[in-house]
Amino acid sequence: MSKRKILVTNALPFANGPIHLGHLLGYIQADIWVRYQRMAGNKVSYVCADDTHGTAIMLSAEREGIPPEELIARVNQEHARDFAGFHVDFDIYYTTHSDENREQAELIYQRLKDADKIAQRSITQLYDPEKDMFLSDRFIKGECPKCGTPDQYGDNCESCSSTYDATDLKNPYSTISGATPVEKESTHFFFKLPEFSDMLKDWTRSGVLAPQVANKLAEWLDAGLQEWDISRDAPYFGFEIPGESGKYFYVWLDAPIGYMASFKKLCASRDDLEFDDYWSKDASSELYHFIGKDIINFHALFWPAMLETANFKKPNLISVNGFLTVNGQKMSKSRGTFIMAQTYLEYLNPEYLRYYFAAKLSSTPEDLDLNLEDFAQRVNSDVVGKVVNIASRCAGFINKNFSGTLGASLAVPELISEFQKTGDEIAALFEAREFSKAIRLIMSLADKANQYIAEQQPWVIAKENPQAEEVQTICSTGLNLFRILLIYLKPVLPVIAEKGESFLQVKPLVWEDAQSLLTDHEIGRFEPLMTRIELSKVEDMVEASKESLVAEEKTENPTDTAAKTALGKDPISAEIEFPNFAKVDLRIVKVINAEHVEGADKLLKLTLSLGPNAAGEEETRTVFSGIKAAYDPQKLIGMHTVMVANLKPRQMKFGLSEGMILASGEADKVFLLEPHEGAEPGSRVT
Ligand code: MSP
Ligand code: ZN
Repeated sequence: MSKRKILVTNALPFANGPIHLGHLLGYIQADIWVRYQRMAGNKVSYVCADDTHGTAIMLSAEREGIPPEELIARVNQEHARDFAGFHVDFDIYYTTHSDENREQAELIYQRLKDADKIAQRSITQLYDPEKDMFLSDRFIKGECPKCGTPDQYGDNCESCSSTYDATDLKNPYSTISGATPVEKESTHFFFKLPEFSDMLKDWTRSGVLAPQVANKLAEWLDAGLQEWDISRDAPYFGFEIPGESGKYFYVWLDAPIGYMASFKKLCASRDDLEFDDYWSKDASSELYHFIGKDIINFHALFWPAMLETANFKKPNLISVNGFLTVNGQKMSKSRGTFIMAQTYLEYLNPEYLRYYFAAKLSSTPEDLDLNLEDFAQRVNSDVVGKVVNIASRCAGFINKNFSGTLGASLAVPELISEFQKTGDEIAALFEAREFSKAIRLIMSLADKANQYIAEQQPWVIAKENPQAEEVQTICSTGLNLFRILLIYLKPVLPVIAEKGESFLQVKPLVWEDAQSLLTDHEIGRFEPLMTRIELSKVEDMVEASKESLVAEEKTENPTDTAAKTALGKDPISAEIEFPNFAKVDLRIVKVINAEHVEGADKLLKLTLSLGPNAAGEEETRTVFSGIKAAYDPQKLIGMHTVMVANLKPRQMKFGLSEGMILASGEADKVFLLEPHEGAEPGSRVT
């Protein structure tokens, strides 16, 4: 079969937060598919980038007091590092804030305009008169017009689930400045999406999407499409619309165009890739988008309509992943299950997670649960207990008794041929993104290999006669079976495969190699390819994810970014009764010791004095506080500040924290509260 040319993209992560395990599901899925295609001999380009535009990123940068360009440059490095850490092997990890993307977005917009697919009209929106900007629904809160619950967002109520327009909220306020929004008119540009309704009804059923996804889209298509607002008013971080000053492309217009821009950048560095071979309308190459289920409208409605109008190729397939849950529940910061890529990597091997995801992934957009106990058990029993075990049972005899050389002939030809023949079926399952089925099949082969070795008991024969030819044959057969399993698992476990290749002293394995065998061949010394998951490490990782929450309460909570102002000012919280306030026991304290905590990125360990107690002894408290970025511990010693003295103690990874100290700000701009001179440690703050 001739070599296929395939361009694979992954959704472009927003540049205003770290990569977490939920994100990784879709990236690991695509990477496994890409690695399989490469092993099968196809020509694959795998591209991604950061999605850098929009209000949220603009405000994040403002809060940090840096230009957005600086923020997105830093996050780009962090994201690239995180993906590399999980062996996600992009050919390029670019940015949507690039010249290539600006040019491509302008070109496509011009073609939409030329085709008369852009409408222009004035709309009324809520406007923040203090911050001088229009507010999208997520930056407006108020009382639900139906049930009166306070602090509801501008589009729907979390309490009674009713949906409404932001202008219907009672006592609305801007979550950016706290100001009361006013209504204001402005001209917007719209993409005439309803004109594509028939095309999309056909296209979404043409095999490019899983049926479940097509059904979801059909609900929207049947309800009737709306024109899509593709412009935003200044201030906005993005690309200005040519010829329209103060108007910007909405982030979701230029984001998917970022796929093209990344590929264009890649082409510039490669002689063997031509942009038009992949994007022109009649290109024979294949285009695959991997995305999560929350962004199907952008990819399967707006995007194909744009591509069609602008005379580019539409995707051959959109692979949609479901959402990740941990221990059966939504990822949660307080439970420690909102786990960042970096935190995971501090404790565990990335291939554990790759294997577990593969073992549970299918081509459908169902949610996937990472049950942490099952995770440890599954990886240990399959990868370590079954696959690696075959090699470790056989390698010693070959290394020691046969000077590292595999025998000239092998046993059980039927079993070997079964291993080889199953390769086609496994390949078809990888191709169809039915990874869990592929893994099941591979593990059933692994069981058979182990059974063979257990029955032959080479260790019993070797006891009698270490040099018996039979021992060499059995172990050489075992190692050949192991080698075939390694080939089949290589898309999922690239590092183990690489270690296996160097142990077997073979060139990088490709899919076809399963059809050949290793005989009369010298192998290297066996080193353990993977160690078992220790549950204590998993527990530590969960604890550490709680720890970073406490520290991050003072840094950033991505979903609440919206609720902060450009000045770092939160809107005033809902009123409370005095007795509730009076329950908080605030005390003046003196810092008598402050030190770094080994292994903690953000915490300092403080010893606080509350002055003498009733018995005349000095009363102290230990508090862990996320202020490391802002304070040198030495300089804190001797200082007076204020603590919440009756906060329930909290067991953290590094010890028990017996309260909190009061501070404003975040990250390296934290400011501890300090009383006027003369305030005595232990005295109550009222
Ligand atoms: N920037 C957009 C995508 C633009 S593509 C032209 C975006 N970014 S995101 O950072 O919010 O999400 C990146 C990817 O991660 C998306 O495919 C999204 O669906 C996926 N996931 C984010 N959280 C997830 C889980 N908890 N579980 C599984 N996938 C998740 O959307
Ligand atoms: Zn309500």
